[in-house]
Amino acid sequence: MRRPLIAGNWKLHKTVAEALEMVTTLKKDLTDVKDRDMVVAPAFTALASVAEALAGSPLALAAQNCYPQASGAFTGEVSPALLRDVGCRYVIVGHSERRSLFSESDDFIRQKVKAVLDEGLLAIFCIGETLEERNENRTFEILEGQVDAGLKGIDKAAAEGLTIAYEPVWAIGTGQTASDDQAEEAHRFIRDLLARRYDQDLADRTRILYGGSVKPDNVDGLMAMPNIDGALVGGASLKAADFIRIVRFGKG
Ligand code: PGA
Repeated sequence: MRRPLIAGNWKLHKTVAEALEMVTTLKKDLTDVKDRDMVVAPAFTALASVAEALAGSPLALAAQNCYPQASGAFTGEVSPALLRDVGCRYVIVGHSERRSLFSESDDFIRQKVKAVLDEGLLAIFCIGETLEERNENRTFEILEGQVDAGLKGIDKAAAEGLTIAYEPVWAIGTGQTASDDQAEEAHRFIRDLLARRYDQDLADRTRILYGGSVKPDNVDGLMAMPNIDGALVGGASLKAADFIRIVRFGKG
């Protein structure tokens, strides 16, 4: 009942020309894909050109970050309103690189989630434990804390615009993917938590993506798990052939 979603997070990669080359290939090679959602998240500088290139295609555009104010004296920042204006449908919020490298707090991330949803955009809200936290058996506690802090004050109607990305920090960019069972266990926990905080219906409809070293050779196993509804892909989304194979999970 949940439509799969595969999103490519390009991080700080690709000039406008490189981004356009990539989406031209994706558009051409993925025209037949109708049963899953596909999203690319270029750097801010390529959003406008990529939006134009994607017009009329099944691929949707995401931003990698935003600032939780509509406008004002916030030098260097970009609001959800401006992202919608440029053609974004999704915004990634709370990525672990934002949390660790840029010291983003749970409360700041909550403001961003709210601002994105208030603007009518879809939030891809990222959560995940570090290796140390996993080794201390604190994974569920960390996930629960991040969900509760990040979604505080987000009512059920607003939460309809939410996709969760479970991204264990130790698996991001390391080549060390969570096993299918480790990922499924965390996803089931998150879905049960959504059911407790909202209701079962919303929990059953909310997509929970896995992220962290998703590659062509591990995507099929992950996507076969009942509570894994898609992937947030970093490194492997930079190469067209790899991303296309990931989008085509389960189809060989
Ligand atoms: P990775 O990144 O696929 O390179 O591990 C995932 C992410 O950061 O979203």
